[in-house]
Amino acid sequence: MCGIVGYVGHRSALDVVVAGLQRLEYRGYDSAGVALAIPGEQQLHSVKRAGKLANLIDALADEPLPEAHTAIGHTRWATHGPPTNRNAHPHQSGRVAVVHNGIIENFATLRASLEAAGRELVSETDTEVVAHLLDLELEKTPDLADAVRAVCRCLEGAFTLVIADSTNPDVVVGARRNSPLVVGRGHGENFLGSDVAAFVEFTREAIELGQDQVVTITADDIVVTDFDGNPAEVSPYHIDWDIAAAEKGGYEWFMLKEIAEQPHAVADTLLGRHAANGQLQLDEMRLSDDELRDVDQIVIIACGTSFYAGMVAKYAIEHWTRIPCEVELASEFRYRDPILTRSTLVVSISQSGETMDTLMAIRYAREQRARVLSICNTNGATIPRESDAVIYTHAGPEIAVASTKGFLAQIVACYLLGLYLAQVKGIKFRDEISRILADVGAVPNAIQRVLDDADHIRKLARELAQHRSFLFIGRHVGFPVALEGALKLKELAYLHAEGFAGGELKHGPIAVVEDGTPVFAIVPSTSYAALRDKVISNIQEVRARGAQTVVLVEEGDDSALPFADHVIRLPKVPTLLQPLVATVPLQIFACELASQLGYDVDQPRNLAKSVTVE
Ligand code: G6P
Repeated sequence: MCGIVGYVGHRSALDVVVAGLQRLEYRGYDSAGVALAIPGEQQLHSVKRAGKLANLIDALADEPLPEAHTAIGHTRWATHGPPTNRNAHPHQSGRVAVVHNGIIENFATLRASLEAAGRELVSETDTEVVAHLLDLELEKTPDLADAVRAVCRCLEGAFTLVIADSTNPDVVVGARRNSPLVVGRGHGENFLGSDVAAFVEFTREAIELGQDQVVTITADDIVVTDFDGNPAEVSPYHIDWDIAAAEKGGYEWFMLKEIAEQPHAVADTLLGRHAANGQLQLDEMRLSDDELRDVDQIVIIACGTSFYAGMVAKYAIEHWTRIPCEVELASEFRYRDPILTRSTLVVSISQSGETMDTLMAIRYAREQRARVLSICNTNGATIPRESDAVIYTHAGPEIAVASTKGFLAQIVACYLLGLYLAQVKGIKFRDEISRILADVGAVPNAIQRVLDDADHIRKLARELAQHRSFLFIGRHVGFPVALEGALKLKELAYLHAEGFAGGELKHGPIAVVEDGTPVFAIVPSTSYAALRDKVISNIQEVRARGAQTVVLVEEGDDSALPFADHVIRLPKVPTLLQPLVATVPLQIFACELASQLGYDVDQPRNLAKSVTVE
């Protein structure tokens, strides 16, 4: 969602901010803008444009701004009012310009009182309200940070705010509540960003801001307080990935790079978890073994692709731990009065760690006294910070909006959790756990083989590119794989695509099968023969009704071949690990098909990487 950059230092502030916004493009946005502060001038310079960053860059080339060393910038993902030049950030009032991520929930009341007091607001945004409140506050107090703190105390909802001030051109102030903001520490320069990608090109030293904090940066200083002005503790950290990790590395799309990185994502998520004595260890686990032994119910909450990772995980966790495990969409969870107790373990899965639906769900769970463990790919993000325990996936930065390597790493992390619970509860012996971990350890090679043999998948995508409707069927762990395969096609290629449990076909979905409809079927591994035979029957059912079948089946298993119009071979792995290999061809298929149709694979229309509104 919205990307934010702030800069004070010795470089051209405009160049730094535009570079930062480019790095944040992956978050998804539909307009962009910048504002510069220049000493001796009583006015800020601002340019904003609807559409892609290229429009803003063109506008800046047409009407160059003066050299400045202080700037703020923003990419907006529209919430209040359409993506127009006028609604784009920054929003100005008097001496200040404000950029904002999140939603100010009491903005209608605040706007009404501003208008009643004679203020004229020119945009439809909630953000402009903040600019006016700040301008009013600055009539009472000349200090920008004081004014920001006072305004923040009146705001409800979620916000990251970053502000430039023509009267204090050497200062940028930021504030956050329920929305991320990080500080980059340089030499003679400091940065603010929605995430570290905004400034990792310039510095790898960062500071995490806590909830309800205000930060003031100058070229040489960083001051952090709470909303009442009390000095706040900060936690500095070193960013351990470099800019190359956030660049395309020669691939046409970030998504292709991220698909190719999956063997590493899986291997790195496993790294360091298995002690020499055979004991499984999860270093970021802050819940004691006694607390985990008490767990008698698991509820997994997540959104989008992460939700499907949770669906896969349920099969393994219940099988290994015998603890009942439910999976629920985070956006539904807290509205249904779920039954949670002190012995419920709520597991949130979020690649970004900032998804608002998931964040609100874990807050609710903690209020109900449940324990919360988060599986997350982003160090220091809000969700892991607010959890009782964290398992970080080590997939590296995921830039493409549609998740790929994040998904596989999440499944692995969930499996580690399942095995860990089985270990502490004494349900599985160490050697059993070691055997399963050895199987997971072999998965990166299996994924690599799928990647090395992907030409025919791309060819198939080009062949089927004229179809407008695709179905995906699977059973057991193949069912969430079918859902994920369909989601990828929807997200990237804007096609009608639906995933079903194979057994449900005959209860309705089979009615939509027409002559030539492509139906992808994920055939369970031969180690689950009874289920495999059921899926083969499902394949015959759709084929008898004219479907063109694309069968994903294990190497060496020829039982489905007579009913397959197209075959995608999967390396042989145990049943519960099949999603880790079966998802990969579906990602490649969707990516190639979307490229074939000429779409922006990394930033699909209407979608955002990090959805920070409910
Ligand atoms: C957005 C993205 C999806 C992602 C979902 C959950 O909708 O477009 O790709 O799966 O958010 O994101 P999270 O960061 O919580 O895993």
